[in-house]
Formats: sequence, structure tokens, C-alpha cells
Amino acid sequence: MCGIFAYLNYLTPKSRKEIIELLIKGLERLEYRGYDSAGIALDTSDSENITILKETGKVKALQNQILNKGYSLEFDVIHSSHVGIAHTRWATHGVPSAVNAHPHRSDDDNSFVLVHNGIITNYKDIKVFLMGKGHVFESDTDTEVVAKLMAHIYQQHPDLPFRELVEQAIAQLEGAYALCVKSRHFPGECVATRRGSPLLVGIKSKTKLAADSIPILYSKDAQKADHRVVSVSAGLQIPAGDFPRVESTSQFGPLGEDKEVEYFFASDASAVIEHTNRVLYLEDHDVAAVKCGILSIHRLKRGIDESHAREITTLKMEIQQIMKGNYSSFMQKEIFEQPESVVNTMRGRVDFEKGTVVLGGLKDYIAEIRRCRRLLLIGCGTSYHSAIATRQLLEELTELPVMVDLASDFLDRNTPIFRDDVCFFISQSGETADTLLALRYCKARGALIVGLTNTVGSSICRESHCGIHINAGPEIGVASTKAYTSQFISIVMFALMMCEDRISIQPRRYEIIQGLKMLPDLIKEVLKVDNKVQELAKELHQQKSLLVMGRGYNYATCLEGALKIKELTYMHSEGILAGELKHGPLALIDKLMPVIMVVTRDPVYSKCMNALQQVIAREGRPVLVCEAGDTETQAFCPGNFLEIPHSVDCLQGILTVIPMQLLSYHIAVLRGCNVDCPRNLAKSVTVE
Ligand code: G6P
Repeated sequence: MCGIFAYLNYLTPKSRKEIIELLIKGLERLEYRGYDSAGIALDTSDSENITILKETGKVKALQNQILNKGYSLEFDVIHSSHVGIAHTRWATHGVPSAVNAHPHRSDDDNSFVLVHNGIITNYKDIKVFLMGKGHVFESDTDTEVVAKLMAHIYQQHPDLPFRELVEQAIAQLEGAYALCVKSRHFPGECVATRRGSPLLVGIKSKTKLAADSIPILYSKDAQKADHRVVSVSAGLQIPAGDFPRVESTSQFGPLGEDKEVEYFFASDASAVIEHTNRVLYLEDHDVAAVKCGILSIHRLKRGIDESHAREITTLKMEIQQIMKGNYSSFMQKEIFEQPESVVNTMRGRVDFEKGTVVLGGLKDYIAEIRRCRRLLLIGCGTSYHSAIATRQLLEELTELPVMVDLASDFLDRNTPIFRDDVCFFISQSGETADTLLALRYCKARGALIVGLTNTVGSSICRESHCGIHINAGPEIGVASTKAYTSQFISIVMFALMMCEDRISIQPRRYEIIQGLKMLPDLIKEVLKVDNKVQELAKELHQQKSLLVMGRGYNYATCLEGALKIKELTYMHSEGILAGELKHGPLALIDKLMPVIMVVTRDPVYSKCMNALQQVIAREGRPVLVCEAGDTETQAFCPGNFLEIPHSVDCLQGILTVIPMQLLSYHIAVLRGCNVDCPRNLAKSVTVE
């Protein structure tokens, strides 16, 4: 949901061309987060002012504007120290347009220029106040108020240091944000802060860094400092003296004489990994400021048991993981990566010989989890589907009540939560706003919080008591694919761990563990169906609608398959529980309505066959996703089926979903849709 990237070079001379290229590359890496407009801000060549360049559309459009439209950017001018900020947008307030694109500015002089991810919910109040003070707004965004608020504070208190000025401004904000700010009044300085939206700092230095962590500096009166100084509705006034001041005593930067250093601020690690693997993740309410090459982190608010330093972590990610390689899109690459990604999810956790499963992140909590009253699995979109896919097995292996909820609906219902509940929050990104809010809701009510994410260091990881990293590797295509299969397997592994002591269930456990062992090879088999799926896509790509039907363990495949079709192809698609066929969907069936039916040899096989016959009786001509060699079933749809290999019933959904992923991909290509960046969507939805 919007990508932020900023680059600060201190005593490391870079040409303007290099700086622009670096900013554009950073945006390209974050484009999956939003792609309806993009912009950058950098110093003018004489370093006296700030240049802002913005364009509607994808980052490529901005790049073309820079290269082709002849901006006098003086590419060869060298800046020995410089701050550039950049942004790729997913519109929430105001249509996608150059004027609504970020960076936003405080005034014609570009005194304060910033990029923002999130939503400022009280922006209207602030806007009214600032307009009353004579500020003229140019965009329809919520973000612009923040830049203008900073200018307003500066006018009143020109002596405030940059960081404190930003702190004053954010104290007035409600809602969620990650912000990176530069100012012509504070050349070479950058201030970044977050509340509810992710932000990290990458550090690159030739010499050893002074420390492996950076201590946090608190405002003197930190516990009181989070409240707004004077509420906007009461009339915004910001008396400098009232605001807690703190002198910076800690220094962070490279050791020795050589002070040259580069800093990167980004919404996620994929934008910095090609420059450095040393990062620190900012927490909500952190204010990170770089001045004279020195990074400091301040907090306005003192939590009860928070850490007093931010560790510098070393990213394990490899640059190849975020490159497309020989594939035409990230989504295609990620579908074809699944034989390896599922291995990575199980690596070091499942011992196929001994038949044991150990999830390191849960092992100290498993006894407590076994004693719980119920399990809740909460997520959005594809992550929610992974919970649907595994609920039946969880119920079987844990004998606990299992509730599965969409995070938004869960919150709308004010669902009762108890101290002896165990709540799983499933999220590829670990940043989805609804899921995170549901997590905080459950945590406040005393439940045990288990995070299940693909992004180490994400908000959900950090705010959970314990959890599972699904280890699928970076997923860049907006439509989730390999994360789904890895989430599925992670929950299966959890279910197996829960029942390791139950003698009666050992044969079933053994069967599933052997099934897991076979999965990578079986996925390779499924992927061979690609050409046939492409042929099917040619038949279907001009249709308006596509129904996907199944039940039992394959119901989730229907929901997830239909979601993939919708997201990528903009066709109407519905996942239908075959058990509900007679209660409505059958009315849709005629000889023209395209239908896919998933029928595998599991406990609901005969019920699925029943549904299949009803569809055929209404002149429907369904395409089957069925097991290889199952000629009895295939005979109902001669020549009209996709074969997948047989696996254990509860794992079959991992295999049946893959033809649906491939089908949505091929239909999208045939319809000329952008596979990696479907219209109106974003990968990481950090707003409610
Ligand atoms: C967005 C994405 C979906 C994803 C959902 C949940 O809607 O477009 O692909 O499934 O968010 O994301 P999460 O990161 O929480 O799994």
C-alpha cells in the first residue's frame, strides 16, 4: 500500500544521475505495493532548492518523463551529501494524478517535502485549520496537510531542530503513517517515522559500524509526550516550550576517521537488499533522524516492556530472489518456485525419517496451546483461504473448536475473545492493517497471539507472542501464490505438532508426514499441466464469468482459484461450495456458463460426483480438476479435464490450487492484463 524509498549519501559523492537511478530502482522494487503514480524529490543542482518530479501511472512512466521530457536535471552534477525521497502510490484519497502523487510539499518554495504511506484520518480538521492560516492546498490527498503543518510549525518556531519539528507535527496526526521528510531548511538531513505502516532503515558503510544496535533516546517526559499538545478542533497551537526536549547524546555511524555512510529508508527490505543487508526495523512511534551522517532514534512514547535499542539485523535475502530471472512475470516465477518454496517451509522442521515436526517458534508455547479453549485463524484474502483449507485437518488433529475469520468481519463483530483462546494471524506481508488490528484486539483481551507470516521483522511478527515464519521467500507478484501453499503447509505442520503425543492418531500423522515428503515432486508433476492449462485459457479468456466448484478439502481451492481469476483477469468468478449447489448456484448453470469442478478421491468424492451429475443434467459442460488416471471420473467430461497426482486427502488442496493459479495467469496474459500489478490492487494493504 504505497512504497516509500529514500536515499541519503553522506560524504559519498554521487552524480545526480546515479541518485535518480537509485531512487527509481528503489521504487521499482516496491512497485507491487502500489502503482498508480510515482514521484521523487531531490536537491536542485546548486543544492539551494528542491526539485519534485511526479507522474501518473507506473514507475516506468516517471522514468520516461525524466529521460525523455528533457528536464534540465544536470545529470553530471555531483552531490557529496544529499537526501532524495521517492514514492509509488496506491490511491486512497484523491484520484491517481500527478498532483495527487507524492512527494507532497508545504509551499511553492518546497520548504518541506515528504512521502507518506497510510491514512491520516483527521486530515480534514488539520486542513481547515491550515486553510484558516492562509495555506493553499493543491491536491485532494490527506498527506498534503502533513507537509503544510510542518511549514506552519516552522514559521512559528524557526529555531526548532528538524527532528523535533517533525515530532511536533506527528503529535497532531491521527491514523496510520510511515513518513520520510526532507526540507530545504535542513539540507542533508532526513527524518523518518512510523505509526502503523512499515518502515526500515538500511545502512551501508565501508568501515565497521560503531555498534550492532542503536540505543533509543526518549523525550524527557516520554510517557506524556504522545498526546497532542493542543487538539486541532480546539485550535492548533504549538508552544515550543511545552514540548519535551531531549539532547542527543548517543552517536551512531561508522567508526574511525572515515565518516562516509549511506542510509536507505524503505517500506520493505526488497528495495535495499541490492545496496546493503544491514537493516534496522523501526517500531511504531520511532522517529529516526540523520544529521551529519549520524543516525539517531527517538521515541515519543514509552511502552511498558519495550526494548531500549533497535538491533541492526543482517538480511538473509538474496538479490536473485527478487529478480524475475527467465520468467515473464514475478507471478509466473512464484508459481513455478513452489517445488522449492514448500521445501524451504519444511526445512529443519519436519524429520521425515523420525516422523517428527518441530516449529522452533512455537515449541515453548505448545503445552499452553494444547490447553486452550479454541483456536482462531484470522487473515484477509489468500491468507484467509489458507485457514479455510486447513481448518478440517486442525479440527481432526487437535480436537479443538477452530474458528476461521476474515479480519475485517471479525473486527466488525466485536467478537468475544477470552484469555484461553489462541489466535493465529496469517499474513504474507505481516503488515495487513485489518489483520494487525484484529491481532491487537485479541492481544488486549489476553489471548495468546501466534503470527504466521512470510516477512521477518514485519509488524505482525513483532507484535505476536510467538509464531511461524513460512519461509516461502520474497513474494512480489500482487496475487499471492507460493505464500498460500507455504501457509497451508505451515498450518499442517502446526496441527502435526499438536497431536504428536496421541497414540491413536499416529497412523494418520505418519500418512500426512509421508505426504509432505512427496509434495515437492508432486508439485513438479502438477506444473507439467501448464500447456494444457494454457489451451484451456484460450477457450475461456473471452468469457464474462467462471464458476469454480468443489467441497471438503478442496473448497478452499475454489475460493482461492476464483479470487485469483478475479484479481488477475477482472472476470467475474465465484468459488462455490458444491454442497450449496441446490440452494442457489444451480440456477446459474446452462450450456454457456463456464464451470470448473474439483473432484478428487477423498471422503466427499461421491458427493462431488453427485454435484457433477447435476451440473451435467442442466447441460453444463464443466472442466474437471481431477486425479491422474481416474478414468471413471474423467469419463463424465471426455477430454475436458486437468490431471493432478494423488496425495493425502488433506494435502490435495496444495496440488489442486496450482492449475487454478496457472489458469488465472494465462487468462490474464491473453486478456492483456498486467499480471504482477492488477488494476486497483496492492500487495500489502496497510490501510483499513
Ligand atoms: C491483498 C493482496 C492479496 C492478499 C491480501 C492479504 O489484498 O492483494 O493477495 O492475500 O492482501 O495479504 P497478507 O499480506 O496479509 O497475506
